Amino acid sequence: MTQPIAIKLPRLQNDLLELFRIGYDADSKGVFRMGFTEADMQARDWLIKKFEQEGFSARMDSAGNIIGSMPGQHSGPVVAIGSHIDSVPAGGMFDGSLGVLAGLECMRTVRDHDLYCHYPLEVYAFAEEEGRFGGMMGVQAIAGELTPQWLETAHDANHVLLKDEMARAGLSALEALNARVDPKHFHAFLELHIEQGPVLERIKKPVGVVDAISGVYKWLVRLIGKANHAGTAPMDMRSDAFMGLADFAHEIPRIIEEDGTDKSRLTIGWVKLKPGYAHTVPGEAEFTLVGRDTDPQVMQDLADSCRRVLSAIARRHNLMFEFEQMSWLAPQAMSDEVIQAFCRRAEALQLDYEVMPSGAGHDAQYMARITPTGLIFIPSIGGISHAPDEWTHWQDVEIGANLLLHTALDFARPSGKTQSA
Ligand code: GLV
Ligand code: MN
Ligand code: MN
Repeated sequence: MTQPIAIKLPRLQNDLLELFRIGYDADSKGVFRMGFTEADMQARDWLIKKFEQEGFSARMDSAGNIIGSMPGQHSGPVVAIGSHIDSVPAGGMFDGSLGVLAGLECMRTVRDHDLYCHYPLEVYAFAEEEGRFGGMMGVQAIAGELTPQWLETAHDANHVLLKDEMARAGLSALEALNARVDPKHFHAFLELHIEQGPVLERIKKPVGVVDAISGVYKWLVRLIGKANHAGTAPMDMRSDAFMGLADFAHEIPRIIEEDGTDKSRLTIGWVKLKPGYAHTVPGEAEFTLVGRDTDPQVMQDLADSCRRVLSAIARRHNLMFEFEQMSWLAPQAMSDEVIQAFCRRAEALQLDYEVMPSGAGHDAQYMARITPTGLIFIPSIGGISHAPDEWTHWQDVEIGANLLLHTALDFARPSGKTQSA
């Protein structure tokens, strides 16, 4: 049997390592490319040049998305591949970048072997996937899911406005509305991502085919008490905002037990105490609360329960409680057609795979609203991600990129469409 056409792993390795250097921090050994920061924009420039050096065209749209393209024999619709190149603070090398750079490597492989594509290929690096400003701004722009009001007011946990960060990067926030793409432009969308969890490693399978992506909501919560002298304020006369936060954190396992499922997650990932001084009772605790589940009703139940528990705790500690919902992303099923295509190709390539849900959010969840969409995973060592220890074996990277390539070709060469068609 002849070997199937394959990507060249060293090229993809080089690209991943080169991109990782943009925003790399030697102290934490992680990458800092949060949406619309200087490092993020530098990475976008790097990516455009990379596509161009390889002879592909590339552009940035008005939402900051980078799109590399390769023509097909016919003008459209396109088979799109992609993910994101922004990162969380102290992120790893593969989260997002893998799906984008594997897309570029697919294009190079098609070019090198002069493979017939009926439809054009496009590779997307969506802007601001990591939710610094809540949501997934770049792909939401493409799916036409942004509003002028949100673009005007969206801010990060430090109250930096999206529109100010975009202006600094030479973009106008309201212009992002013009990045909407007619769904007819797309034939299908495929994303390759690291699993960011422990399942594939545990079951010793190299590939996960995702059937549904968890929904996620993000709140910015404030518990407001009274700052006071830490020595003179008697313990029973305090309105200590941190005590409220600590009590709430302690309630999280019970909330999940009562209102959640084994797929539910509640995380307090960012906290700020005010005034934030060792000798002062905290007058305010501001923190993010991120909730997830694959079922929209369970997500709602979790959110309702969090609100009730926070209100009760606030009363008990003599605090005020307020929160702002920065985003609410609904759970999203992947397309059966694309799931089947990935599974068929995995079988043809003799790869053992697992059909599984995704606990993390992905650009695919918004692309799925406008075109048949699928998402595949490769294993994460130790299940670690959103941390500098994130790593994936290179042979798994190669396997994932080849599955992506062959499935993309299946969509780019639909049956009945031949070279001469
Ligand atoms: C995306 O990375 C998420 O936090 O789900
Ligand atoms: Mn990601
Ligand atoms: Mn991520």
